[in-house]
Amino acid sequence: MRYAVVYLKGGVGKTTLATHLAAHFARSAPSLLIDADPQESSATWAAWRQEHEALPKPTTVRLRGKAVFDEGRSLAENYQNTVIDAGGHDGAGLRNALLAADRVVVPMGISGFDGAVFDDFMDLFNTAQDFNQGLEMRVVVNRINPQSSDRELREFLGERNVHVMERVVHERRVFQHAIGDGLTIEEYKPRNGSAIHEMGQLYREITEWK
Ligand SMILES: Nc1ncnc2c1ncn2[C@@H]1O[C@H](COP(=O)(O)OP(=O)(O)OP(=O)(O)O)[C@@H](O)[C@H]1O
Ligand SMILES: [Mg+2]
Repeated sequence: MRYAVVYLKGGVGKTTLATHLAAHFARSAPSLLIDADPQESSATWAAWRQEHEALPKPTTVRLRGKAVFDEGRSLAENYQNTVIDAGGHDGAGLRNALLAADRVVVPMGISGFDGAVFDDFMDLFNTAQDFNQGLEMRVVVNRINPQSSDRELREFLGERNVHVMERVVHERRVFQHAIGDGLTIEEYKPRNGSAIHEMGQLYREITEWK
């Protein structure tokens, strides 16, 4: 399965989710992580991860523009799962990620949510779907804190018939610590049981996506 973790906005958790998903998949089968963002945050995470010899590693490649589609699709044939991390702006990387994927995972926060940006993203998604039939998308609410509610966001997306994952990812500092070490929250010490449980449920929801 090929997943693209994308949105038209920076800092929403694309790299966090893409690296966690790719590492999760790598625990059970060969997994490919395509870094299609010129900032190369996923590739940097993968480089730090090399220092942890015992950990399962997704194969990581950096691809740009049309290569995300051409090379990405052909490389993906050798892996059970592929995850593409594309930059948070409209460009060839994002557009080709939408063409290369089977499924699109869109992380989104509550604070700073901008409906117009979302509608622009849907235009891109719908255009990609004209060429890449069968492309599906789901939103993951990320970085939610205990005081805030995602009800309004869910209503907004519901009105547009957008599927939102039931599981949300809470704001937790362990994500920043783990990513900075080339790890995932499952691997980071001290262990954060609630975060691990939450992500486990999200992985399940993603892999049970029908
Ligand atoms: N659930 C979370 N809790 C706490 N911090 C988070 C969470 N998700 C992401 N972050 C942090 O938010 C920042 C942005 O996340 P990330 O780099 O994954 O976003 P991005 O969408 O890939 O950004 P960019 O568009 O710049 O590539 C990072 O510092 C990351 O550690
Ligand atoms: Mg990123």
